[in-house]
Amino acid sequence: MAGIEKHPETNFVELYRDISASEYMEFKLNNPDFEFQRENALRCCYEGLQSLPNGLRVLDYGSGASLHETVLTAAKASEIVLSDYSPKNREALRLWLNGDPAAFDWIPHFRRTLREIEEGGEKELSHRVETIRRVAKAVVHCDLSQDPPIQRGYDVQYDLIYSSFCLCAAANSHEEYRQGINKLAKLLKPGGVLMMYESEHKECQQSFYYIKSSKFPYVAVTSEFVAGAFRDAGFVAVSVRSVEMDPNHSFRVQRPERIGYFHIQGIKA
Ligand SMILES: C[S@@+](CC[C@H](N)C(=O)[O-])C[C@H]1O[C@@H](n2cnc3c(N)ncnc32)[C@H](O)[C@@H]1O
Repeated sequence: MAGIEKHPETNFVELYRDISASEYMEFKLNNPDFEFQRENALRCCYEGLQSLPNGLRVLDYGSGASLHETVLTAAKASEIVLSDYSPKNREALRLWLNGDPAAFDWIPHFRRTLREIEEGGEKELSHRVETIRRVAKAVVHCDLSQDPPIQRGYDVQYDLIYSSFCLCAAANSHEEYRQGINKLAKLLKPGGVLMMYESEHKECQQSFYYIKSSKFPYVAVTSEFVAGAFRDAGFVAVSVRSVEMDPNHSFRVQRPERIGYFHIQGIKA
């Protein structure tokens, strides 16, 4: 496996402190592959949730400033804890939860998700918005380099942990990525589910992306590597859904090593 050493630019985590929540959201929504990624992530998340009961204690790990999947996970939750390393992202989430007019407007995104993914759920929009605000118990600090990797008091046993594009950004190396899965496993009760969404690569290596002129290194993974880390951490019934982007997609032409996306989930034994 290529490039498993520690990333040379070790201070990149500080970049996440500096970037504003709106800059990150602008980057995410305008990414050339956003549409592809969004639809697939939401569909996999929705389908993954279908076999789970209601009333779950949920942790969204490394939420960023994003509530994309929260409209789905909150519907299964009796409580949900949102978390991020960056204070700016946590503040952006709190603004929305508190109904502050300065918050990012999630309503059109939720409407679209309910219409397209839940096919008709759109009529439930206001109820679902109210559900998110009711079940969201806290927005807390998390740091994958620590153990537990989350603010004290929230290192409890969850039924479901959802995490998208976080471990690749938070880990400095593939070994730290594996350890990160172990740390998340400890935050789940036996029978609890870890669901993650990541970019699929041809091989494990160190990579990077840009938000404006800031370079963000990340740990590029394959679904095979992550599935192995899940099994080593004691997860069973590990399932992967990997989708490849069209090889002619402009994003893939620019970044040929990044071939698509994958959703992975496993049950803690
Ligand atoms: C690419 S963003 C993903 C955000 C969001 N889940 C999404 O799908 O858009 C990566 C997130 O990891 C967070 N992060 C950075 N370093 C971290 C660390 N050491 N521990 C936990 N999260 C970290 C960043 O603050 C950022 O919000």
